[in-house]
Amino acid sequence: MADYDWNDRKIMTFDTNNVISTIDLHVYYGEKEAIHGVDMQFQENQITALIGPSGSGKSTYLRSLNRMNDFSDTARVTGEILYEGVNINSKEVNVYEVRKQIGMVFQRPNPFAKSIYENIAFVHRKNGVKSKKQLDEIVETSLKQAALWDQVKDDLNKSALAISGGQAQRLCIARAISVKPDILLMDEPCSALDPISTMQVEETMTALKENYTIIIVTHNMQQASRVSDYAAFFYSGDLIEYDETAKIFTNPSLKSTEDYVSGHFG
Ligand SMILES: Nc1ncnc2c1ncn2[C@@H]1O[C@H](COP(=O)(O)OP(=O)(O)OP(=O)(O)O)[C@@H](O)[C@H]1O
Ligand SMILES: [Mg+2]
Repeated sequence: MADYDWNDRKIMTFDTNNVISTIDLHVYYGEKEAIHGVDMQFQENQITALIGPSGSGKSTYLRSLNRMNDFSDTARVTGEILYEGVNINSKEVNVYEVRKQIGMVFQRPNPFAKSIYENIAFVHRKNGVKSKKQLDEIVETSLKQAALWDQVKDDLNKSALAISGGQAQRLCIARAISVKPDILLMDEPCSALDPISTMQVEETMTALKENYTIIIVTHNMQQASRVSDYAAFFYSGDLIEYDETAKIFTNPSLKSTEDYVSGHFG
């Protein structure tokens, strides 16, 4: 491997419009430290891509942003996660409230074994929405935002397990946005999808940018350069370089970033 100086960092900061940021964020799995103190800010209504080799800590970092690591017996997260000025990495902050504001879409589409309609309506009914008309509206609006409505509007009672992978992933996006989060976290949302479905999900993301802040983990460099406004290169639990996507892909500041994005790394 080329002789990189891993102490070099080039991390952009913003004066305004930071919707969420982390300060000295560390994540430990038992004794092992997987994230070594990451300071990072995310811009509102922009798409930020987290890139880096396997095991560099992208998912671990992403999951900490909506306290998904709380589910793990071994993970421990220290440092601050500031969302609207509040440190949400605190026991006093209700984790379910956090997840209403910061939604997540996973690598493998994970629709419930229910109808397309119920995949979205379920949580709202559980939260006390009784009116059929209101539920219909939530389902329709969410599916439209996820660019799936036209394809499924006549099949809303069909099982969500009987639709294509790309449609299922857009259903999961619809489900996530139906509760009107501010931020959408996506961990390799297209890695299980064919190129056409991938394109459709990317188009959906671009359209959603108007109303949501999106943070996506991807191994696909073309995808990162197509959809993201900012890109962050992680290596071995550290944020190494963070800049505008165009800069990261055409003229990065660090040799390691350049080698990674051009496929010459390692
Ligand atoms: N539940 C866990 N328990 C213990 N160690 C873990 C756990 N999850 C991840 N790790 C370790 O933390 C480090 C970062 O893993 P993480 O999954 O965040 O990387 P990643 O960048 O998302 O990788 P990939 O691109 O393969 O998804 C790795 O060394 C991994 O082995
Ligand atoms: Mg991962």
